[in-house]
Amino acid sequence: MCGIVGYTGYRRAQPILLNSLKKLEYRGYDSAGVAIIDKEMVIHKDKGEIAVLVEHLPKIEGSVGIAHTRWATHGKPSQINAHPFTDCKKMIALIHNGIVENYLDIKEKLLEEGHEFKSDTDTEVVVHLLEKYYEGDLEKAMLKTLKEIEGSYAFVAISAEEKGKIVVARKESPLILGKGNDENFIASDIPALLKETNRITNLHDGEVATITPKSIRVVDMEGNEISKEWKTITWNVEDAERGGYEHFMLKEIYEAPSTIHNTILGRMSALDLGPPLGDDFSAIKMVACGTSYYAAMAGKYILEEIAGIPTTVELASEYRYSSRAHERPLTILISQSGETLDTLGAAREAKQRGCPLLAITNYMGSSLARTVGENRVFYTRAGIEIGVAATKTFVAQLIALYLIALQLAQERHTKNSDEIRRMLDEMRTLPRVAWKVLGMGPEIRELAEKYHDVKDAFILGRGLNYPIALEGALKLKEISYIHAEGFAAGELKHGPLALMSEEAVVLAVAVQDHTYKKILGNIREVNARGSPVIGIGYEGDDNLRKFVDDLILIPKVSNIFSAIPVVLAFQLFAYHVAKERGCEIDKPRHLAKTVTVE
Ligand code: M6R
Repeated sequence: MCGIVGYTGYRRAQPILLNSLKKLEYRGYDSAGVAIIDKEMVIHKDKGEIAVLVEHLPKIEGSVGIAHTRWATHGKPSQINAHPFTDCKKMIALIHNGIVENYLDIKEKLLEEGHEFKSDTDTEVVVHLLEKYYEGDLEKAMLKTLKEIEGSYAFVAISAEEKGKIVVARKESPLILGKGNDENFIASDIPALLKETNRITNLHDGEVATITPKSIRVVDMEGNEISKEWKTITWNVEDAERGGYEHFMLKEIYEAPSTIHNTILGRMSALDLGPPLGDDFSAIKMVACGTSYYAAMAGKYILEEIAGIPTTVELASEYRYSSRAHERPLTILISQSGETLDTLGAAREAKQRGCPLLAITNYMGSSLARTVGENRVFYTRAGIEIGVAATKTFVAQLIALYLIALQLAQERHTKNSDEIRRMLDEMRTLPRVAWKVLGMGPEIRELAEKYHDVKDAFILGRGLNYPIALEGALKLKEISYIHAEGFAAGELKHGPLALMSEEAVVLAVAVQDHTYKKILGNIREVNARGSPVIGIGYEGDDNLRKFVDDLILIPKVSNIFSAIPVVLAFQLFAYHVAKERGCEIDKPRHLAKTVTVE
């Protein structure tokens, strides 16, 4: 996720670009840059937030330009890897949001043809392809270039030979066009444009647009003209930043499908799942805090089932001070921010113990990534999460764990290639599964209305869905302040059953796996103590209805993937309960997004 803006018109482009770009800082802030055509192409870029760029920027004349704020995915955050990129002759400038999956193959060919590269990014190949195909018409060069690109993109390009013109293309990364009077705009998102115009159209996948001060022409990939519908946006800037959602948390829950897609992207073609994880370990230990810890707990089930490797899980704050075991497991540190102090301390400790390390984080260049070494990091590519409660990043962590487990299964031959392929194929359907659960928002809101004033909430799960129950309970605690606890359902009779009463609600995950009958028994036990039960089961499970007061029916998936639809249902439930209770959802009391103290 990066932020992109562009302007062509009669005013000086620089202030317009910078003001608009600031509105997109929530999309990334590890480097920023601008390209403006004055007498020639002028490019400036800096590592760090947009403020750093603004501080260093001289006054640039010119009334056409593009600007970018980066969220690194390929190539660490640095000045060299900041956008825009230029071709060898510095005539074309390009910015990009997305991932070019086949950039290594393209780069190899372009190097042979004599192109010179300056960065480690996937994006730079695209500007050299534009250079290769450019014959005085940037739109034609873009159409030819796109034929070679696999991946997702919002590309924005300008050429010093065609002043006043911006050419853009989109596939799976957002891009909008804004219409003014004798000036036009492009951006990743509506907040960036609202100060300038509210006449907006979305560019769709497979569309290419050529924008000048007086015209906007949109074509398909074959160059056939498409007519666009323009709408007038009535949101204020704050609404727009939340994409029209009432809270960032809700927006981020609804970003799960694209998050799953982005985390998977480029990581499963031809079973080439990634660089080898190695064979210098016979066990895995996962270490994390909070929601990331629950992802680690789920990871234990995932890794043991898919890769057959014994796995233990430890809280980072405990691991740091635990006695040193003699064995050296592969130690996987999970942290969305990559800055949680306890997890960083654990990473250093594991390093000292001589363990092979792997990190799962959402932040390229984070302290965790640097501690374990950039080549030992799995980046989740969920984009920035603003709500304090982790939602889409948890989903992305689960996806990362599935992919790591499949890679280990492949390396260690614990599953044959047909089984691995079948699982990868099913993973590709998970964005659709996620959409279906999110489509149940209104039903889940009704349940939240019914149960929002309970005294306690208990969430039951077994196997893989036990850590998901813990995560569901954490979501409720954090944002609704209801006393909520997750339990392994089999443990109820060993104590927690004493807590059941009519003032509590129980959410029980009853997917039809090998524990199904057992959990139905557990539901009976709590029902007999007067607690109403919301069952979470698969679509078509009419039997479950007989045991529960209310039902959330999620799409049927292979049981190992059930964690994804189940957690989305919990996230929505927690959100709507908190909303009913009038809580401060994005900034719950006493909590910080990233805990950098011990
Ligand atoms: O950035 P991290 O994943 O290391 O953060 C760990 C926890 O602080 C975090 O998951 C916290 O529990 C979440 N806010 C829960 O929603």
